[in-house]
Amino acid sequence: MRVVCVAGARPNYMKIKPVMDALEARGAEVLLVHTGQHYDPAMNDVFFADLGIRPPDRFLGIGSGSHAEQTGRVMTAFEPLLAEVAPDVVVVVGDINSTLACALVTAKAGPLLAHVEAGLRSRDWSMPEEVNRVATDRVSDYLLAPSPDAVDNLRAEGYREDQIHLVGNVMIDTLLANLERARTSDVLDRFGLAEGAFGLVTLHRPANVDDPEVLTGLLKALGEIAGRLPLVLPVHPRAAGRLAEIGVPGGVRLVPPAGYLDFIALQDAARVVLTDSGGVQEETTALGVPCVTLRDNTERPVTVEQGTNVLAGRDPARITATVHAVLDAPPAPRRPDLWDGRASDRIAEVLLTGGTADSRPRPTDRPRTKARPKARPKARPKDRTFPI
Ligand code: UD1
Ligand code: UDP
Repeated sequence: MRVVCVAGARPNYMKIKPVMDALEARGAEVLLVHTGQHYDPAMNDVFFADLGIRPPDRFLGIGSGSHAEQTGRVMTAFEPLLAEVAPDVVVVVGDINSTLACALVTAKAGPLLAHVEAGLRSRDWSMPEEVNRVATDRVSDYLLAPSPDAVDNLRAEGYREDQIHLVGNVMIDTLLANLERARTSDVLDRFGLAEGAFGLVTLHRPANVDDPEVLTGLLKALGEIAGRLPLVLPVHPRAAGRLAEIGVPGGVRLVPPAGYLDFIALQDAARVVLTDSGGVQEETTALGVPCVTLRDNTERPVTVEQGTNVLAGRDPARITATVHAVLDAPPAPRRPDLWDGRASDRIAEVLLTGGTADSRPRPTDRPRTKARPKARPKARPKDRTFPI
């Protein structure tokens, strides 16, 4: 079976790597396609080095742009590639523009489409990622869900049972595989930090960093918290300009975006993590480190219900009160089911066997020719009325 695995930006690399490994271990031919949505060495190259990902087989070099520009450029570059490579399956991960772009192309081109991290829903349509998640799931054949809440969302939206597979969390596969290596990082020494004596912050959601008024409020809260606990903030390039314009309060230290192993080491050693990242909510839960999420909602409720995550919103007074409460009484750690380091094995099993018993043609049964007919599973969800 020939599989195209797609990655494009920072949160994709740690999700795609274990899936590639699990597929290759079972004899699949895997091609890694990198869209180039992220391209700075600190947002890209360091992850290939840290995680031992081989250089991409194809690089699309898309770069930055508006949503339409970026999505359109990926689609235009991915379509001829897909026709040339003619894979049986395309695997997309997460919820970035590259995910949606490659999903849309695949859905019309013929190969089966597998979405890793299917079913996550914030129900916040102001997030570009929510549009990407819902639209990607809609055109996917295999919906590979990380947690039971994601399965519930997919069922509520009317997807067929045989499309939905509860596989667990691939990001945690990578975390567990690399945790011991991360703990040998010298990042604490380099930054002059002591274990348990600092807070770690990440900010990159447009709703938090694009509006100077909102960002000013968040920085006010960080300044107040830094009076109790010094904070270190690896700066996402999206936020760099505005952080420099507004200026950060004393006690908040800006550092460049961290590599994967360094960032896991920082999370592991932090007393609390403040974030608007999706993946960091999950990693802190797996590490048992308290996490305060600077958003009003999360598409990862399992991290609140079963993990160490608390939603604090964006109001400065509420954020500071929440952080103080968490520092005084940290939430008890508990790792959700199937966040066990084996999610990618389950995914490979589904993709190579066609999943649970159903009438879908197995990918391996289908001819691989450039002009092959668009053999799709019957009664795809797009034949139904979408209930949202
Ligand atoms: C993207 C994803 C978001 C994900 C985040 C992870 C979408 C819609 N958004 O957001 O879901 O959480 O990545 O980090 O796909 N830039 C650089 N260097 C880079 C990459 C970006 O300087 O290597 C700057 C550019 O000014 C660019 C801006 O960051 O315009 C935003 O990049 P973009 O990929 O469009 O979105 P992110 O905010 O990174
Ligand atoms: N991460 C990292 N360095 C950083 C910030 C994040 O290595 O400075 C890692 C983090 O450990 C997680 C992933 O990047 O594995 C999350 O990506 P990001 O926050 O950019 O995107 P999101 O998950 O919000 O889509």
